[in-house]
Amino acid sequence: MSELNKVVIVGLGLIGGSLAAALRKARACKEIIGIARRAETCQQAMRMGIIDQAHTDIASVLPSLGKGDVVFIAVPTLSVRKIISALKNAPKELVITDGASVKGSVYQDVVTEFGYFPENFVLGHPIAGSEKSGVEASNEDLYVDHRVILTPCSENRPAAIALVSAMWQSVGAEVLEMSVADHDTVLAATSHLPHAIAFSLVDTLAHDSNNENIFRYAAGGFRDFTRIASSDATMWRDIMLANRESVLEAIDLFSSNLNRLRDAIAHSDATALAGVFNRAKFARDRFTKMLESRAYSSSMQNTESKNVVYTVQPGGSVQGTIRVPGDKSISHRSIMLGSLAEGTTRVKGFLEGEDALATLQAFRDMGVVIEGPDEGNVTVHGVGMQGLQAPSGPLYMGNSGTSMRLLSGILAGQQFESELTGDVSLSKRPMNRVANPLREMGAQIDTAEEGRPPLRIKAGGGLKAIDYTLPMASAQVKSCLLLAGLFADGETRVTEPAPTRDHTERMLQGFGYQVNRNGSQVSLTSGGKLFACDIEIPADISSATFFMVAAAIAPGSDVTLTHVGINPTRIGVINILQLMGSNLTLSNKREVGGEPVADIRVQYAPLKGIKIPEEQVPLGIDEFPALLIAAACAEGKTVLSGAEELRVKETDRIQAMADGLVALGIACETRADGIIVTGGQLTGGSVESFHDHRIAMAFTIAALRANGTITVNNCANVATSFPNFVELAQKAGISLEINYS
Ligand code: S3P
Repeated sequence: MSELNKVVIVGLGLIGGSLAAALRKARACKEIIGIARRAETCQQAMRMGIIDQAHTDIASVLPSLGKGDVVFIAVPTLSVRKIISALKNAPKELVITDGASVKGSVYQDVVTEFGYFPENFVLGHPIAGSEKSGVEASNEDLYVDHRVILTPCSENRPAAIALVSAMWQSVGAEVLEMSVADHDTVLAATSHLPHAIAFSLVDTLAHDSNNENIFRYAAGGFRDFTRIASSDATMWRDIMLANRESVLEAIDLFSSNLNRLRDAIAHSDATALAGVFNRAKFARDRFTKMLESRAYSSSMQNTESKNVVYTVQPGGSVQGTIRVPGDKSISHRSIMLGSLAEGTTRVKGFLEGEDALATLQAFRDMGVVIEGPDEGNVTVHGVGMQGLQAPSGPLYMGNSGTSMRLLSGILAGQQFESELTGDVSLSKRPMNRVANPLREMGAQIDTAEEGRPPLRIKAGGGLKAIDYTLPMASAQVKSCLLLAGLFADGETRVTEPAPTRDHTERMLQGFGYQVNRNGSQVSLTSGGKLFACDIEIPADISSATFFMVAAAIAPGSDVTLTHVGINPTRIGVINILQLMGSNLTLSNKREVGGEPVADIRVQYAPLKGIKIPEEQVPLGIDEFPALLIAAACAEGKTVLSGAEELRVKETDRIQAMADGLVALGIACETRADGIIVTGGQLTGGSVESFHDHRIAMAFTIAALRANGTITVNNCANVATSFPNFVELAQKAGISLEINYS
């Protein structure tokens, strides 16, 4: 920051005063000069020790300023122009920036006053207000972990932008850039509209003749909701006027939604009300979680930016009775079919992980009223086969390949256009495996290069049924085509090269839709209806796997996993562990909602390496990260082949496991379609999960047999499938700690 010389702060209110205090604390510049209209404010700031000099007029300091100096204008939006006018004679090298909440009006003022836009004038806006105002409210930590938006213009000199960025970064802020127009639209919705509503609500209530009583008895709701109505009145008057057009648009949209809510109340329309309240609650809860991780920080947009590190101490064993969360595959399908059904579907045991929630949100975005999730309970108010509505923007699928692939089948059959997007990992995954057969059915689908997301699905001109043989064993592709088949003309037939999970077929039948199976072929005919039903989701065998393998490798272990789904198309892990010599028993076998479940007990027994039978691969496809840890702890070699699909999961799981195992001292040989692991002593070390939830959890349990501490990097995505993994792992006996870096 050697470049930052003097900083002149014009306006010593909360924003200006706090910058002065923060610069002082950070010793980020040589001199801080304060300018305030009122002499008392100047004296107060001097008394507080946050500035070195105080003046009541900027003109007197201008001649002493030059290169490396910055003027920060922190006066109410509509007073900015007066200051700009006074700066017309400023030395050319002086960098000027501002903190006004509206950028379009300041841009105009600058151009009007100067007659052009100066290269050293960098527009900015620190997002760090508070209902407090005045120099007394100055807070030296106000900007720490808060965002500052700069809205540079094409006229700006890069060095001027860099100097302003550096100033904000020196006080702990995160600087990001946007266009002037984007800034004003975003802020109108997220800040200006809420302030307009809060001021108006308090004004409405204060006019009531009983207002004394209203304020006296006002419960927490009033207090929470209207806190911002005690913000600076002049400042907010100015902001509304300066950002008039965008604020009007935001108010109009809100008014029409409020009227819709009014109608729903007037007509006692409980479903519509549940829709608004559940959508809003879900959105707010999500926002709260984001705020908890870091207020107004980049983690709000990209959880991958934060490295969640698991540190696991070596040794120990696992004990106890554990119920892992609901099955991910079945959770996705319960929302999809529940939405397309007629009537209300009640789901129990829904997985509240990010992936299944992405599916849930997508259907909310298409107008389906979904209540919950609340401790695994979800109520879906089905809209019928033709009832989905066009979403207002792209449907965001996060990390979830299942959401994107299955939804593309449903969306191909709709009369509206849609776009499916995902996170960094999902954006690299192959989608032509669904897009190509859907195109054969008549769908128009655009993808990014090489069939990667986003997927753009054009408004349907009607699908026709096809007879399709899957080139790979994939339940997602099979399910996608069956779901598209619900909307296609005729009988859709899908033949699979090897059995894959059949939850879609089972659940369709549970919803009263006829599905035929003939050997390796599944078929259905369009034109039917789905009827709502109750669904109980078993515990996810893919999540249970981590504890099954943990018990299988750690001497002295004995765990029982309850209520686990043991659908025959999912039990590869049970078969493989038993072939390796694991002491694994099933009890209490029963059926819930068309799916078999059982309790699975695993007690430690020495494992031996095996050649994994290829027909078991699709039946345990998600379980290989954990199974390869079992292989590392077994005596001799374990050979996995016929598993090329592992290379296109959330990450290339063959390479990711090989990298991690080698880092922990285990010999591995990779093949295009598999891996050979030679059992041995796991050492401690640091491994990369590549943001893949199952890689992260696999290396966590590996520590049970390691002779040193294992750290696993980038574990945030464990929340996609197993949100309480850490808690259950700790309870079972794994010494696991979470750190952030
Ligand atoms: C899934 C199918 C499998 C599996 C995924 C879930 C499903 O994917 O790996 O976690 O719910 O249909 P593929 O169909 O790509 O094998």
